[in-house]
Amino acid sequence: MSARTLARSLAPPIVLDLFRRWSGRSLRFSGNPSSWDQAIRMSSGYSDPSILERVLMATRAVASGQARYERDGMLFDKPTFPFPVLAALLRAAARDANHLDVIDFGGSLGSTYRQCLPFLNGLSPIRWSVIEQASFVEAGRNEFTTDELKFFASLDDLPQRGSESVVLLSSVLQYLDDPLGRLRELAKMSAGHLVIDRTPLNESAVDRLCIQHVPKHIYAASYPCWILSRPKLLDQLSRNWRLVAEYPCPEGSAHTEDGLPFASLRRYVHGQQFNPSLLGALVNPFFLARRELWCAIAAASSDMRGRLLDVGCGTKPYRELFSTDTYVGLDIDSQSSRSRNTADAYYDGGRFPFEDGAFNAVLCNQVFEHVFNPQEFLSEIRRVLAVGGRLLLTVPFVWDEHEQPYDYARYSSFGLKALLTQHGFRIVRHQKLLADVSVIFQLLNAYLFKTMRTRSPFFNMIVTALILGPVSLLGLVLGTLLPKNEDLYLDQLVIAERL
Ligand SMILES: C[S@@+](CC[C@H](N)C(=O)[O-])C[C@H]1O[C@@H](n2cnc3c(N)ncnc32)[C@H](O)[C@@H]1O
Repeated sequence: MSARTLARSLAPPIVLDLFRRWSGRSLRFSGNPSSWDQAIRMSSGYSDPSILERVLMATRAVASGQARYERDGMLFDKPTFPFPVLAALLRAAARDANHLDVIDFGGSLGSTYRQCLPFLNGLSPIRWSVIEQASFVEAGRNEFTTDELKFFASLDDLPQRGSESVVLLSSVLQYLDDPLGRLRELAKMSAGHLVIDRTPLNESAVDRLCIQHVPKHIYAASYPCWILSRPKLLDQLSRNWRLVAEYPCPEGSAHTEDGLPFASLRRYVHGQQFNPSLLGALVNPFFLARRELWCAIAAASSDMRGRLLDVGCGTKPYRELFSTDTYVGLDIDSQSSRSRNTADAYYDGGRFPFEDGAFNAVLCNQVFEHVFNPQEFLSEIRRVLAVGGRLLLTVPFVWDEHEQPYDYARYSSFGLKALLTQHGFRIVRHQKLLADVSVIFQLLNAYLFKTMRTRSPFFNMIVTALILGPVSLLGLVLGTLLPKNEDLYLDQLVIAERL
């Protein structure tokens, strides 16, 4: 074992990471550009001719056998195989009588093709079409085109054959100005498999734009780069694809300059937002409210069948609880809902953009308090529901003002039931959530959360773990031990049938 390998295996990851940063060997993400145009102005860009020059030299070295493979212009002497990609290619070929027809979007001068080749023996025919920038296409056509490998400047240039088996997006989606738009376009192709490889993701509900700095030892360059929202990406993919597998990037993870060494902690905190485990009390200030809501919606979800409309869907956090035929998200047309980009349809707060009786089920979770025209809103829900369809509605009874100024009402159980009955619904079930002493602990935490919150996420996390967490857990215990009080509760849940 060399001294270098020994040092690498003994050093704690954080030391290795600091070393890579200090030596300029790590991939860095920085900045917070407000638009793609601004990000382009802040970086050297992908079309820098020196990049093609370097990739071209490296590809020549691989093609002539001087190196085993090339990646982003870097040469490697030892073979490394992208096994997750290979598994997908072989899966596709196994289902397609051993044919393999790959659309390799952003496939450079064929680096992944050459890297995979030793495992593709025996497949026939192989067609590998790289879609690239015009300068790459020209270089590819001049020097590297074979019977199997071809280069095209756009999807429109591909010969129409309808036999594509795999769309491969390896380290490319993040460099497109409209990655989700491009995914929608690619979904129209006939390929049965889509592979998204080496793409940075974040766990929040929003895509983050930043500048990626290539490590200095590769070449001095920087590009605009998206760190896409994983929940949003999965949501978009679920419209056209079934998820077969997710795998971590084989090259490891990188982090942004604003501190993603805590990435796994952040991911955990995010995962505990709507369906918190017991330990989640230490990271989620709304543990009591969210846990109760999740359990109640889970129990009620089996009543919802057929075509479901989620009105005011937000990030659709409860989607996994419903196994309905379709799940359509509607949200009010606002800057924040558009930036989340998780709804399937938007409207102006008046008429829903759907036909009468288009749905068998409507979910409306924690939205009704934000509706200024509840009468019209309930009439619209009734209109789009088929006769006998079900409405699952939750709404707070006591909670602090939120999403100001769009917070208009609180409903008692009598007010809510009367409104629903007036609008042609029959109440099937009415439930008061957190109708015990724990509601007071949840309200105390809502108070502490607002008054103790600082600009430092780290400090907020410590406060949540050391103060709010114990308050939640005490509330949980006392809530089960002390008598219930049906007159004071946090939320109400109603299942109502459209008459
Ligand atoms: C507290 S969030 C709840 C989001 C989601 N239903 C959930 O359970 O996480 C409130 C949502 O209501 C939406 N909203 C506000 N006014 C609305 C209206 N008049 N019609 C439909 N949605 C509305 C907001 O855009 C936001 O997505």
